[in-house]
Amino acid sequence: MAEADISHLIQARYGPTVSSGITPAGAVIRNSTIKTLLQHRSIRHFLPEKLPEGTLEIIIATAQSAATSSNLQTWSVVALDNDNKDEAATLCGNQDFIRQAPLFLVFCADLDRLTKVSAQHELRGEGLEYTDMFLMASLDAALAGQNATIAAEALGLGTCYVGAARNKPLELAQLLGLPPRVIAVFGLAIGRPNPSKPTAVKPRLPQKEILHKGMWRVDGRQAANLAEYDSTLASFNAGEKRESVPAWTHRSAKRIEKVESLHGRHVLKDALQQTGFNLR
Ligand SMILES: Cc1cc2nc3c(=O)[nH]c(=O)nc-3n(C[C@H](O)[C@H](O)[C@H](O)COP(=O)(O)O)c2cc1C
Repeated sequence: MAEADISHLIQARYGPTVSSGITPAGAVIRNSTIKTLLQHRSIRHFLPEKLPEGTLEIIIATAQSAATSSNLQTWSVVALDNDNKDEAATLCGNQDFIRQAPLFLVFCADLDRLTKVSAQHELRGEGLEYTDMFLMASLDAALAGQNATIAAEALGLGTCYVGAARNKPLELAQLLGLPPRVIAVFGLAIGRPNPSKPTAVKPRLPQKEILHKGMWRVDGRQAANLAEYDSTLASFNAGEKRESVPAWTHRSAKRIEKVESLHGRHVLKDALQQTGFNLR
């Protein structure tokens, strides 16, 4: 790959008018993994074709290759390719791309397995009742999900995460027959992107805003950084014919303005309690 390709991808990641200050050199220039990562975009339009035989299993093998806290592997996944997928789509914010996608993976925090392992060894499993274990399980699931995403994208497939898997946690748990101490933390729709609905790479915050070297930086530049990003995303949205989308700062503030904007996820603490997590 020519140097210009990676530079072009980095430019797209931060927006055409922003200087990233990054000059790719050496092995980076030819690295296909870095290229795959820089090209990520969420896909919400899929072709109806099934995935090739064995794709699910290889994607899950890569998901299981992610690091996992203390090798506890506190996650499991429910793969939906037909049965239950439409109902799951309805429960997950009624998002049609989930119905379109040939595969929908529901990644779960799973403390049931360790509950059983504790019983097997006649030990108390007291640690399972602390918030850190749920965080650990969610982190394990997230790392697995991201490996699955990268694998799918490396195979030319598209993906979209579905946080709306937490909109109706108890209903989804019932639909999928989840045991106590297992809860869906996110979904991942996977399929072949529909080429007639291309999706552009969405720019991120300027690196200077999120990267702190050695110590948290307080340089009074945050307002300017955010204004720069508002402008970058406004240009991006204009290019996508979405001029009516509010500025990123405004949209983000609206997203967290009220409990209603959680789309039902405000009950998560109760749902965890009801499904046996009993977190302290
Ligand atoms: C945990 C998580 C949950 C998400 N949930 C949804 C979702 O329910 N529906 C959706 O359309 N996109 C969802 N997304 C995708 C984000 O909107 C998307 O990643 C973000 O806008 C950045 O765009 P990009 O992925 O194309 O770069 C989710 C992403 C993550 C990481």
